[in-house]
Amino acid sequence: MMPAPIIGVVGLGTMGLGIAQVYAAAGFKVLATDAHEPARLNALARLRAALEPRVVKGAMTAAALEAIVANLHIVGSPEALGAANLIIEAILETLPAKQSLFAALEAVVSPETVLATNTSSLSVTAIAGGLKHPERVVGLHFFNPAPVMKLVELIAHPDTTKTALTLTRDVTETAGKIVIACPDRPGFIVNRCARPFYGEALALLDEGRSASDIDAAMLAAGYRIGPLSLIDLIGADINLAATESMQTAMHHPRYHVFTALKSQVAAGRLGRKSGQGFVFPDVPEAAPKDAADIALRIEATLANEAAWLLSEGGVTAEGIDKALKLGLNFPRGPFEAAALHGPAQVRMTLERLEAAAPSHLKTRYLPPSA
Ligand SMILES: NC(=O)c1ccc[n+]([C@@H]2O[C@H](COP(=O)([O-])OP(=O)(O)OC[C@H]3O[C@@H](n4cnc5c(N)ncnc54)[C@H](O)[C@@H]3O)[C@@H](O)[C@H]2O)c1
Repeated sequence: MMPAPIIGVVGLGTMGLGIAQVYAAAGFKVLATDAHEPARLNALARLRAALEPRVVKGAMTAAALEAIVANLHIVGSPEALGAANLIIEAILETLPAKQSLFAALEAVVSPETVLATNTSSLSVTAIAGGLKHPERVVGLHFFNPAPVMKLVELIAHPDTTKTALTLTRDVTETAGKIVIACPDRPGFIVNRCARPFYGEALALLDEGRSASDIDAAMLAAGYRIGPLSLIDLIGADINLAATESMQTAMHHPRYHVFTALKSQVAAGRLGRKSGQGFVFPDVPEAAPKDAADIALRIEATLANEAAWLLSEGGVTAEGIDKALKLGLNFPRGPFEAAALHGPAQVRMTLERLEAAAPSHLKTRYLPPSA
């Protein structure tokens, strides 16, 4: 029998420690490190603290907790990760930091060791660029909190080998995750295909609709939370940064950064964390009479964005639907929503929106086939 792969993790912050927990809990030996000494020294105590409530609730035995903690081995530097078969980095989100880490790792690992990046917004191709063996680099995008969220996006760049993808997928599925392949495109699947959920809500707000009406319409359509309440939950500052990063990468009115979002951030109305948001601390009132039209409009734009991503290749419609249901708790994926409304209804909605769009939003609603 082949020995079980050893997992390496670099960066023991929010994501890295959670990722280390995922594999340690599945029985893998995990070697992990962080550039910051206190993060290394208190990692095991933080892991214990994350697991103890489960023991208290009776959802995990004390012995199972000890077994998970025993699988996590904290090492002093990336140079001590030579035995790992797959190394996942969850360090600072800058290209130079990730490139220099991977270059340092290449000096100590075998040519087959897979190097995975948990980047949310950088190009996996760019991170792999300049390495001796770029073909071993994959993107492995976990969602926060990593031990809870089922979805993981697996990103191949043009030269990634099938062997690297297979090893990464196998160990991550063994660790209980649902792994969905996606192309090395800005925002991957979820962060990109979610944009119209927020963006079209902000467009409606711009046209004078109330935040309560918009959110109530989406609740009536089966969504667990309305788009503006979701911005309040995540933080308007985080949403603005994600939208700006998509706009910078894609330069298209589909990712228009609405003034209402910028104003929220400028005024410090960040949502829950600041005590005031678009809707928060209130909740949406009764759904308006035209709730179904609002939901159709938002779902038509979600379907259009998904169609654009699909047209760029490297992903399936089923993968996109599944990713949005798992990553965002949507009741249905964008293609499922389009099927529910009917393609003709979706097309007519987009045509109507395009015809009525103000000049700065022209081309926002065009489908990929146009
Ligand atoms: N927080 C999220 O919701 C989220 C979700 C998905 C992906 N990500 C991505 O995961 C990565 C980490 O994010 P985070 O939220 O865990 O950040 P974080 O700040 O909580 O943790 C980063 C850790 O990396 C360490 N570090 C920084 N530079 C290092 C280096 N060169 N070598 C070794 N250790 C280093 C820091 O000391 C810190 O402990 C980023 O790329 C981020 O974009 C974050």
